[in-house]
Amino acid sequence: MQQQYEEQSAEFRILYRDIAVKLSQHDAILSLMSASSSFERIQQQFPQILRWQQHSDIRPEKTLVPAGHGTYWLNAPRFSLLIDINTLIADLPQTQYFQQVSLSWDGVPLIEKGADKSNAYWQWNKTLVSQSQPFNLSVGNNPNWGDLPWLMILISSLFWAVMVYFINKYRANKHQHDIANLRAHFSELTRLNAMGEITAGIIHELNQPLTAALSYNEAAVRLIQQQQTQGVPPLLDASVVQIKRINALLQQLRQKLTHDEAALQPVQLNQIWLRVVMLLEKELRSGKITIVNRMSETLPELLADPIGVEQILHNILTNAIQAQLSMASGWVEVNAWQSGTGITLTITDGGSGLSEQALQEVFMPFYTTRVDGLGLGMTLTETLVQRLNGHIKVENIEGQGARFTVWLPLNPHEV
Ligand SMILES: Nc1ncnc2c1ncn2[C@@H]1O[C@H](COP(=O)(O)OP(=O)(O)OP(=O)(O)O)[C@@H](O)[C@H]1O
Ligand SMILES: [Mg+2]
Repeated sequence: MQQQYEEQSAEFRILYRDIAVKLSQHDAILSLMSASSSFERIQQQFPQILRWQQHSDIRPEKTLVPAGHGTYWLNAPRFSLLIDINTLIADLPQTQYFQQVSLSWDGVPLIEKGADKSNAYWQWNKTLVSQSQPFNLSVGNNPNWGDLPWLMILISSLFWAVMVYFINKYRANKHQHDIANLRAHFSELTRLNAMGEITAGIIHELNQPLTAALSYNEAAVRLIQQQQTQGVPPLLDASVVQIKRINALLQQLRQKLTHDEAALQPVQLNQIWLRVVMLLEKELRSGKITIVNRMSETLPELLADPIGVEQILHNILTNAIQAQLSMASGWVEVNAWQSGTGITLTITDGGSGLSEQALQEVFMPFYTTRVDGLGLGMTLTETLVQRLNGHIKVENIEGQGARFTVWLPLNPHEV
């Protein structure tokens, strides 16, 4: 295509040059003509000059006057020539070459040969450089479709179509592959995350009862070695309680993993509190912590998972004990009363309370200020409270220590 366009542009330039030469000849003829010139001889050489006129006094007003049918008068002070453009361009081969050729002057068409201008694929326009006849030459043409290398075009189109098809297919495959990889990566991350959380939870919850059972058993062994067997049964009983707790926690974990709903049953908050105090008896004793129980005797029963409620109280009491380890002695006060459709429980301690940051982040996973802490106790506790459709908050009490307030509904299904 480009090649054809270049060729046709060259043809246009030839046509332009030839017409310009012919027009300049008219100026030369007019300036050289005299009364004795032989019109016949001039016409023989320049057949486009149809007539000539000599004027003595009358000076034509205009140099150029169109006279219709492709003719025009070219006026000089003493002579005028009637020129026929059709004849002028007839022997120029380029006029056959182009589909459309036109000459206009001052916007007035002088001749128009060939098809309609607007149909031409390519168009060339240029004003001829002539003082007396500054016509605008305009030609139009279509590419020679038949001459185009169709086979090459077809082959290259096919080639590109095949290329585009394979590139798109490759991209689609790659996209799917990437998505599959991403999914695998995410499920692996989720699995690791879930495993990490579960493992951390197991470590957190089993650590205390295991340590307690171990120390009861070691104490029992010592007593047997010293042949003081009468002290052994209570130690083994305490150890059995801790091991049963481990068993119950593992049972609960199994339920979580198999997505079984934890069985809700009527729970007496007082009893669970007493049990937690019993489980942490060793820690309370070694920290010289006094328990002050102000729970109402007539609390209604809660519909809940008893192990879950036990974990909630266990984690809060453990923190309260740990917060007072550096003190000579300490205290923890528990209070509970019915409020609305649930029970409000507060556990207050005599420690130094939570720092500004701890107040903000205490329920965030892995937030801890303790050297051997995991920072999961309160995270697990909040999860357990929310699972029962309750809520938990923490604050510092002026002149005392930290206070955790837990609200649990009597029936989690009715919240
Ligand atoms: N009663 C409290 N008094 C003062 N600070 C507390 C109390 N309870 C919690 N905190 C602060 O909140 C932090 C987070 O408690 P959380 O129980 O989640 O983790 P932890 O006790 O540090 O570690 P663990 O995972 O072993 O329980 C504690 O490290 C402590 O700074
Ligand atoms: Mg803790």
